[in-house]
Amino acid sequence: MPNDTNVHWHEHSVTRAEREKLNGHQGCVIWFTGLSGCGKSTVANLVDHKLHSQGKRSFVLDGDNVRHGLNAGPGMLKERHGDEFAKRFGLGFSAQDREENIRRIGAVAKLFCDAGLITLTAFISPYRRDRDAVRASLAEGDFIEVLVDAPLEICESRDPKGLYKKARAGELKGFTGIDDPYEAPTKPELVLDAAKKDAETLAEEVLAYLRKVGKIK
Ligand code: ADX
Repeated sequence: MPNDTNVHWHEHSVTRAEREKLNGHQGCVIWFTGLSGCGKSTVANLVDHKLHSQGKRSFVLDGDNVRHGLNAGPGMLKERHGDEFAKRFGLGFSAQDREENIRRIGAVAKLFCDAGLITLTAFISPYRRDRDAVRASLAEGDFIEVLVDAPLEICESRDPKGLYKKARAGELKGFTGIDDPYEAPTKPELVLDAAKKDAETLAEEVLAYLRKVGKIK
């Protein structure tokens, strides 16, 4: 028998509706997905900034940042916790590690959403199944999937972290878009054309969507 059967869920004494009333808007999860370098973090941070300026409560969970803490890799964990611990809990970029990365982020995003926050996540999240699992964990309408759509050639030409170059040189294995898959969403709530439009325009498109579905006024 799994040893977590004696763990029980506690209802919050302050409800989500009460929190949302205090905030003056509803919570939700805006899930940006797309190739490395497509502009997910840039757009998410711009939307966050605009929401904040309008007095909304929002927060960005970003792949590179979260992989420094909650989802640190084995290299980072090794120093402090030793080899065995690092191997067991550190997350890399295998399909299974990416699944766990997204599962943890999905769980955190759900908590933030319950706290009434407009939660923005910027992860490649390359597997449809992993994103769908997050969608299924949230109430209808709370998961807003946003494809930041830019062809590989454009992301590769930007190469802000020099990782495409390393992947092409064979120094970095399993890089998304090069020798690892990216499964674009089939029915995202929103598609942002990051090849033709600048981040400012794309951020406004996200805000327009939030107004349209009544998440903000
Ligand atoms: S995800 O696939 O698990 O969703 P996540 O968004 O957390 O990825 O992290 C992606 C970032 O990690 C990239 O923007 C890049 O900076 C870095 N990275 C390092 N190795 C890889 C890799 N093999 N594939 C993709 N991104 C990588």
